[in-house]
Amino acid sequence: MTSRIKYVKGNILNSANNSNKRILIHSCNCNGSWGGGLAYQLALNYPKSEIEYIEICDLFGKAQENNPLLGKFAIIPSFTDPNLLIGCLFNSTLGGLHHGSKESILLNTEVALNKLLAFVFNDTDTEELDSVDLKLNNFMVECYGLQPSSTESSSKYDLSQFQLEMPKINSGIFGVPWEETELILEKLKYNVEFTVYEL
Ligand code: APR
Repeated sequence: MTSRIKYVKGNILNSANNSNKRILIHSCNCNGSWGGGLAYQLALNYPKSEIEYIEICDLFGKAQENNPLLGKFAIIPSFTDPNLLIGCLFNSTLGGLHHGSKESILLNTEVALNKLLAFVFNDTDTEELDSVDLKLNNFMVECYGLQPSSTESSSKYDLSQFQLEMPKINSGIFGVPWEETELILEKLKYNVEFTVYEL
């Protein structure tokens, strides 16, 4: 299966562009810092989400080597906008100048995105998940009321209703040419459409 990319010009945070339910997917370090780039803008606009992101890093990450969050994801509510969820891809242990290598960022982007999509589509093969994956998935369902597609419950967020959006992830602070991340999106396990915002 291949994924599809639709390009849109503009600021991904401009809600005038967006009346749809959406998961804004972005790249994160595992070190609890939303100190630069789009992450910093998210922290300014959605401070409660930043607190949750830091909490997840404290609970599950924070190791300098073999960080258990690497290659995982989290979906966090924006809390102030019921149409907006924030998808975090943990694809580098550290941010800023100490970010991971291009190869490692791309590999962990692919792994984390496939896990995010498996969660959204309720297609998770529990045998492929480690204990941190399982704890994170439970955490998101229990603490945030996320409801993977096709499950029957009265959860707050029905993920099947949310579109997938992102900026040109990895191409700013992480320094990975966008075309290389684009290739990763095209070879994901799931045939989904991503709306990619370009400034
Ligand atoms: N709307 C659309 N695109 C944006 C916006 C915005 N509001 N802000 C930034 N961008 C674009 C940048 O121009 C770049 O093309 O998003 C892309 C990703 O940029 P960064 O935010 O620098 O992120 P990335 O390269 O993925 O590095 C991730 O930086 O964001 C922090 O904490 C995060 O450590 C992580 C690292």
